[in-house]
Amino acid sequence: MMWMNLARAQSLMPAEGTQIATQVNNLYVFLLVASLIASAIIIGGMIFFVWKYRRKTANDKTPYMSHNTTLEFLWSFIPLVIFLGVFAWGWYIYHNMRAMPKDALEIHIVGKQWAWETQYKSGVKASNLIVAPINTDVKLIMTSTDVIHSFFVPSFRIKQDVVPGRYTALWFRANKLGEYHIFCTEFCGTQHSGMIGTLRVVSQQEYEAWLEEESKVGLLPLAQRGEKIFQVKACASCHSTADAAVKVGPPLFKAFGKTHEMANGEKVAMDENYIRESIMSPNAKVVKGFPQNVMPAFQGQLSETELSALVEYIKGLQ
Ligand code: CUA
Repeated sequence: MMWMNLARAQSLMPAEGTQIATQVNNLYVFLLVASLIASAIIIGGMIFFVWKYRRKTANDKTPYMSHNTTLEFLWSFIPLVIFLGVFAWGWYIYHNMRAMPKDALEIHIVGKQWAWETQYKSGVKASNLIVAPINTDVKLIMTSTDVIHSFFVPSFRIKQDVVPGRYTALWFRANKLGEYHIFCTEFCGTQHSGMIGTLRVVSQQEYEAWLEEESKVGLLPLAQRGEKIFQVKACASCHSTADAAVKVGPPLFKAFGKTHEMANGEKVAMDENYIRESIMSPNAKVVKGFPQNVMPAFQGQLSETELSALVEYIKGLQ
């Protein structure tokens, strides 16, 4: 409708980056225009009647009036229908806003004094920046490390408190490329007003390229990452890393670069490839004195990066 497009001219409202933003705007513009029309009828009517029924002579008398049932019914019933319509309209949009889509791209957001930290499942991290693909359901899983913050993207018309000790969620499906503001809308300390960020909506290819690029520079140093994988995969329960204590498997402390004797008498220098082989197919070369077929093979369970990280970590145990 033309009047709707007119009322949402750039100067009046923030850009609409999602379908929900458009829906919210439609409702808001309807309320605005309905209020304008109602004000015109009420105030205009009042002024008109004041003028029309003004006292014209000294003998003017107000006539006796009781009521008009039809009129009273109409001025009650018509607004009732409009208000209930607005309620249903608002409920419908709110429901869309809060019903989380299945299979959404999930991104973790951590609010803290005074920044927004973004964490992708791949390990990529960003500060005060979210990069999201266009026309994709994106779900934000949010928490805070200190006080209550509130995550707000005006152009998407979505806002949600970010609370320490629990997760809250928001979702959006951006339908326009571009950069949008992120604000914190809960007073959270002296730098509250500086707690701002950018939500960048890009094409799917651009998103993947960005993620790829960031995973090169944005992650932990390989060795630190390797240490984490080492813990997660419970490697430490069989291999000591801080001393030469013998557990189920050979100790890895100061083992890199040395030559070790295998069960078959073969002498093998422990280099990157030996580590790799021992992770992927542990029974290929078992160190003398240790049992066969004990360590599970990690073939197919680790990415190249994870492998490199483990290699770097083990190399560094000197
Ligand atoms: Cu965080 Cu205001």
